[in-house]
Amino acid sequence: MRKAARHFLAVSLLFHGFSAAQNLTDDQLSQVKQRLAEGALQSWELGTRAQALTELDTPAYSVLTVDASLPPSQSSPPSSLDEVFGIAKSIVGNRSVSNDHVSGAQPLIADSAAGDPASIGVAVLLANWTGQASQDKLDYAGAATDQLNYLFNDVPHTSDGAISHRVSQLQLWSDFVYMVPPFLSYYGVVTSNQSMLQQGYNQIKLYRQYLRDGSAGGLWKHIVMGSGTDEGHWSTGNAWAAAGMLRVLGTISRSQFANNLKGEQSDLSSWTLSYGLRNDQRSSKLFGNYADDNSTFDDASSATLLASTVYRLALLSGNTTFLPQAEQVRQAIFGPATSSGSNNGSSLEHFTSDMWLTPVVNPHSFGDEGSESPEGQAFVVELDAAWRDWVQAGSPGVNSAYAMARANWCFWVVISMVLVAAV
Ligand SMILES: *[C@@H]1O[C@H](CO)[C@@H](O)[C@H](O)[C@H]1NC(C)=O
Ligand SMILES: *[C@@H]1O[C@H](CO)[C@@H](O)[C@H](O)[C@H]1NC(C)=O
Ligand SMILES: *[C@@H]1O[C@H](CO)[C@@H](O)[C@H](O)[C@H]1NC(C)=O
Ligand SMILES: *[C@@H]1O[C@H](CO)[C@@H](O)[C@H](O)[C@H]1NC(C)=O
Ligand SMILES: *[C@@H]1O[C@H](CO)[C@@H](O)[C@H](O)[C@H]1NC(C)=O
Ligand SMILES: *[C@@H]1O[C@H](CO)[C@@H](O)[C@H](O)[C@H]1NC(C)=O
Ligand SMILES: *[C@@H]1O[C@H](CO)[C@@H](O)[C@H](O)[C@H]1NC(C)=O
Repeated sequence: MRKAARHFLAVSLLFHGFSAAQNLTDDQLSQVKQRLAEGALQSWELGTRAQALTELDTPAYSVLTVDASLPPSQSSPPSSLDEVFGIAKSIVGNRSVSNDHVSGAQPLIADSAAGDPASIGVAVLLANWTGQASQDKLDYAGAATDQLNYLFNDVPHTSDGAISHRVSQLQLWSDFVYMVPPFLSYYGVVTSNQSMLQQGYNQIKLYRQYLRDGSAGGLWKHIVMGSGTDEGHWSTGNAWAAAGMLRVLGTISRSQFANNLKGEQSDLSSWTLSYGLRNDQRSSKLFGNYADDNSTFDDASSATLLASTVYRLALLSGNTTFLPQAEQVRQAIFGPATSSGSNNGSSLEHFTSDMWLTPVVNPHSFGDEGSESPEGQAFVVELDAAWRDWVQAGSPGVNSAYAMARANWCFWVVISMVLVAAV
């Protein structure tokens, strides 16, 4: 009995110490990236992959890095950007074939979504800016401009100027906020056009007016207008919106026009606060696929992306309000399997043995649970990078996060000691 209590004390100390330092190994992270590379084939998956790789491998070129220069250096980009340039090269190199040889305004890749192809635009702009055209003989600047003109001239708009997420009908999706505004704002930076930089903000403001649901505590609806709407509060859509706002905030705040756009920065900073983390987290620390619908399955993708926005916001705006929740999500996502065999023998609760995040929504059918989500893999990369950068910056707000963990930990130590003393 005494031995059992000692054992319990040792195990509880070990477990709480271990979970507080939870971290993916280099090998696990490289498997996550490998699955992402294999799985990302659709336009938005390629754009999201390019963004995630930039954040992790080349933070000096990421708009989310607080002390990186913007626009970045034009000469000798590091080889860690090669995979990002590879995505831009294959998309722009194949553009005439994939778009049936049209000229002028056109998307980067033909797609029934208007917004999704633009997600690759930041990588294309970076390829132009750093002079990849001189080796590749590809017109990156022209391809980016054609994509921009397509959005403004060919795609349907609301009467107040919100660009449709679909080509065939006027329809607004929360996903749009990650796909289009960061491209518009980055375009404004590299062409030194304040009005285009501000367009990223304007589109977010318009989308927020249409999608934010005041009667649901500020959660965003997924799809409004046209046929085939989804007025539920899709968790991944809320995460796309928060993460897209944050990229535009990062872009504006370090741009050459930052001093002219103070109000825009303060709006984005308050809009990004991860409302989803406030009320809807389940005991698993994840969210339901629809944040406020208890009947929907647990989804790790949305929680992963939302947690990354909390670390980034702590660095970009100094607001650490939701850090305790983000730490809980991160420790759950990167944590060990809770009991042996609970995840088909994988050592991690939320990854399969070949490092696919689980459980996840099917990214090609948003109401259904899926098994392998390329965007979910990108979100893991983004969470790892955000947390790493936050740790490197001295973990601002960590005290509030650990007050909670410590209270928990002390509780178990005291219980264990009482048990040891009692027997
Ligand atoms: C996370 O793990 C990596 C090894 O994979 C290690 O280099 C790094 O120091 C760890 N970070 C922290 C904050 O523990
Ligand atoms: C076109 O795409 C294929 C893969 O689909 C790739 O192998 C090829 O290199 C691309 N073309 C160019 C010019 O990049
Ligand atoms: C392309 O890069 C050049 C700098 O080399 C820059 O002046 C120009 O504005 C860029 N064009 C676009 C569309 O980004
Ligand atoms: C700057 O962006 C605006 C769109 O916001 C566009 O109308 C204008 O033509 C751009 N200016 C230049 C010089 O390209
Ligand atoms: C959903 O579950 C939570 C936690 O169990 C509970 O507090 C909440 O009332 C439930 N909501 C609905 C609509 O049943
Ligand atoms: C951080 O955000 C929370 C939630 O919106 C807000 O209540 C709080 O005032 C903010 N704190 C700071 C320092 O801006
Ligand atoms: C575990 O294995 C079962 C049966 O092969 C499979 O249906 C399920 O998707 C697996 N779960 C995970 C998380 O890999």
